[in-house]
Amino acid sequence: MIIVNTIKELQTELTSHRQDGKRIGFVPTMGNLHQGHLSLVEVAKRHSDIVVVSLFVNPTQFGPNEDFDSYPRTLDADCDKLKNQGTDIVFAPATDEVYPKWPNITSVHVAKLGKNHCGASRPGHFDGVTTVVSKLFNMVRPDCAVFGEKDFQQISIIRRMVSDLNFPLDIIGAPIVREANGLAMSSRNGYLSTEEKDHASNIYKTLLWAKSEIENGRHDFRQLETEAKQRLTELGFVPDYFNIANQETLALAQEQDSQLVILLAAFMGKVRLIDNIKIK
Ligand code: PAJ
Repeated sequence: MIIVNTIKELQTELTSHRQDGKRIGFVPTMGNLHQGHLSLVEVAKRHSDIVVVSLFVNPTQFGPNEDFDSYPRTLDADCDKLKNQGTDIVFAPATDEVYPKWPNITSVHVAKLGKNHCGASRPGHFDGVTTVVSKLFNMVRPDCAVFGEKDFQQISIIRRMVSDLNFPLDIIGAPIVREANGLAMSSRNGYLSTEEKDHASNIYKTLLWAKSEIENGRHDFRQLETEAKQRLTELGFVPDYFNIANQETLALAQEQDSQLVILLAAFMGKVRLIDNIKIK
């Protein structure tokens, strides 16, 4: 495994692989890797010959009061994990390598899909994501890129961006990796104590409850959302949103919709956790 910090080194390395006819797979991350991230590397390995993982905490996707400064940066531990997982190239650029002209005045905006859910509570977040992902795609020029369904809205937006802007690559979705108690793995779980992590599994339990209500025939989605938020509040969370949405459009689900996804964000103390579950 090699670790590169500049776009030039990255491209020199990749050019030779491309000349050898190798297929390049890409996994963008912000580091502080856990089993969820590593599962994406596994998927990328199945779809390509050379796997590139980026480690970059992207400033443009954090709001002014969010955790950009405190976001855990664990480069050495991340590189050890990636090496064990069979990664070929780690791309760990500095901020001014990615944004040499700061502040950037060009950004990529995906309308509609980014409006609800996390987009409503984190203004500008998805523009930051789509802008940096576009930049990383242009730096790596991969044949495929793997994203986790843990960030369901994010992957939906990226799929649409890739389609609308004709990026020449395939987007591959990977399932959510959970702790044994059901809690979706996340770098932000590191902010929680062991007891808090146990209690946070109630988020997934609430999703499972709502899913079973729908599967048992409930279609009063807005009422169900209210009840789920009440449950979360009673359990000591501060729900940000709990939305039953159309899997394709991410608009709030209507009675006739059949492919659904429940998306939620809830605060446990200062820590904002997100999760989702698909329903057919
Ligand atoms: P980050 O939060 O580090 O996540 C990187 C990738 O790992 C994303 O595709 C995310 O969906 C996936 N992931 C995280 N937890 C997961 C889990 N428990 N199971 C499966 N996949 C999981 O998402 C970002 O970084 C950034 O927004 C990024 C796309 C890198 C742009 O900066």
